[in-house]
Amino acid sequence: MGAVVDVQSVRKVFGSGLDGNPFTAVKDVTFTVAAGEVVCICGKTGCGKSTLVNMLLGIDPPSEGTIRIDGLSPSADFMKMRGKLAAVFQTDRLLPWRSVIDNAAIGLEVAGVAKEDRYAQARVWLTKVGLTGWEHAYPHQLSGGMRQRVAIARAFVTNPKVILLDEAFGHLDEVTAHKLRQDCMALINESQTAAIVVTHNITEALELGTRVLVLGKPARVISTHELVDIRKRPDWAIQRDRVRSDIFRNIDSESFG
Ligand SMILES: Nc1ncnc2c1ncn2[C@@H]1O[C@H](COP(=O)(O)OP(=O)(O)OP(=O)(O)O)[C@@H](O)[C@H]1O
Ligand SMILES: [Mg+2]
Repeated sequence: MGAVVDVQSVRKVFGSGLDGNPFTAVKDVTFTVAAGEVVCICGKTGCGKSTLVNMLLGIDPPSEGTIRIDGLSPSADFMKMRGKLAAVFQTDRLLPWRSVIDNAAIGLEVAGVAKEDRYAQARVWLTKVGLTGWEHAYPHQLSGGMRQRVAIARAFVTNPKVILLDEAFGHLDEVTAHKLRQDCMALINESQTAAIVVTHNITEALELGTRVLVLGKPARVISTHELVDIRKRPDWAIQRDRVRSDIFRNIDSESFG
């Protein structure tokens, strides 16, 4: 199957870093993501993950190289990207004055879908994330985990080609995060969305990923760990611990300036 996300030789140089000179935040990043794949991008603080996310979201164009999402450039084709790429961030970014269902349906509202239809579609996704009965509650009445579930429903409601999870479980306790990651995986599998997971949490990468990319600083892929086949092995737990040590060693080996 062809790649839904195609990132080729992407580089980002900021006009001026702390010392006033050009600063390379992303050196050279190449990867692809096909439908149903979950590519986790892991790296130390300051290695350029958020810079990469901003380029994937089309907020900032690359200095060099190309990004294609479903054949479009996120920055140059920004308006056409609507509904194709959805993101879940560390904070839920719900609108406090809107009910759960009005938050979940916002992508459909922006796309001009009539209220009855968008409510019907939002209800489907709120059910999938376990929030039946909470449609007319407001964000302040929900726990952090429930709010993040609304954010996940909101992301999936437009049937995006690509879902981007940027430290999406970082604010949750480990047990809640684990459950939510499992539920999110099921939704990705069911919808065959291409997923990019940006995280500094190696456990998260090993739970979610079909592939883990480790970034050096400044960002470039220093190792790739394929997980699909070894996840099926009876000794997966041992394999996972081996990959965890490899990832840890690779991240740690990067100098930190
Ligand atoms: N607009 C900017 N201008 C200049 N330098 C920048 C700019 N944005 C980010 N940087 C620098 O680029 C580097 C990468 O930053 P980035 O925020 O992408 O890291 P990160 O991997 O997301 O880190 P963290 O895990 O802490 O969130 C940092 O050294 C940062 O200071
Ligand atoms: Mg960041």
